[in-house]
Amino acid sequence: MIYFDNAATSWPKPPAVLEAMAHFLNETGANPGRAAHRRAIASGRIVYEAREAVATLFNAPDPLRVVFGPNVTEALNLALAGYLRAGDHVITSSMEHNSVMRPLRALEQAGVKLTVVPCSPAGFLDPAGVEAAIRPNTIMVALNHASNVTGSILPVAEVGRICRQRDLLLLVDAAQPGGAYPVDVQADRIDLLAFTGHKALCGPMGTGGLIVGDRVDVARLRPLKRGGTGSNSELEEQPDFLPDMCESGTPNAVGLAGLAAGVQWVLEQGVAAIRAHEVELTRRLIGGLQSIPGVTVYGGLDPERQTATVSFNVAGKAPSEVGLRLDDEYGIMCRVGLHCAPAAHKTIGTFPDGTVRFGLSTFNTLDEVDAAVQAVAKLAQEVN
Ligand code: ALA
Repeated sequence: MIYFDNAATSWPKPPAVLEAMAHFLNETGANPGRAAHRRAIASGRIVYEAREAVATLFNAPDPLRVVFGPNVTEALNLALAGYLRAGDHVITSSMEHNSVMRPLRALEQAGVKLTVVPCSPAGFLDPAGVEAAIRPNTIMVALNHASNVTGSILPVAEVGRICRQRDLLLLVDAAQPGGAYPVDVQADRIDLLAFTGHKALCGPMGTGGLIVGDRVDVARLRPLKRGGTGSNSELEEQPDFLPDMCESGTPNAVGLAGLAAGVQWVLEQGVAAIRAHEVELTRRLIGGLQSIPGVTVYGGLDPERQTATVSFNVAGKAPSEVGLRLDDEYGIMCRVGLHCAPAAHKTIGTFPDGTVRFGLSTFNTLDEVDAAVQAVAKLAQEVN
């Protein structure tokens, strides 16, 4: 069996992740930050270690500005719905996932002004297009760092430079590249970084968060929910400091124990080494698929300009049929269709049927890539 659905969620997880979660449940188990007994303190320490690990990975100066939540979608909603107000203008790209696009479309109904800058058919964004879209009331640019459809890497650092020059905030959705491609909030001038824990950070589902930079006016950031935080308990009003103001309710501490171990594992391997292996896999996969008559590969066709996510179609076969047969007949698991990113598929010309997507990870091998290319070639031979 070959697992090529890492763009949806990574598998397998490093053994240390499973061990950390089992250890938490067996040996710690208490509610972090809610009591002063030894297990609650141990639990709080584990959550703080997760903050430190994430801050280290993304080069964020202050672990206490790492806000945890259940997923990157909630983090993006916090940054967008929590920060934008009617009359504000926000710029985004046409390669966004619905986790950015749907909150923005809802905010548009509530009076926020939105410009969607078109990307090229290969899924790339020209920073000049972002600059040209800036208006007097623009306050934020919200950008996918790497497409979950084509892997195309967007020019975050260049847009970051423009945002600083024009005094705008840059919100980046790092769901796809985080852990597999260098993401540096300081060097890239990212003010708000939304991340997921369960993809290349190697943690479990149910973990993610938002890194809030020091250019963000925290007083303006409205929490999505309010409630118990274990802090300022004498007050009936929400705390006004990070991370507590945005972390009401018992956190997913067992998940964060796994996330801490996953990020630690990534740091031990090194993002550069993970990236180098994935570039090699991607090069082999793109080359192999392109050599098959009847197969169209989407994106920039350059492994250096994308993550290890490759979208393709087989002429004469629906993506759903290809995906089903790869699973049934070859044991290859992938994701087909629109990948919750209709705008991206419109951009690359594959809407409404979508594509077949292979999402590779550091655990995949060149042998698996070769086997998958052979399987696709056999399916393509039936009609081409
Ligand atoms: N957003 C994830 C994907 O692309 C789930 O599959």
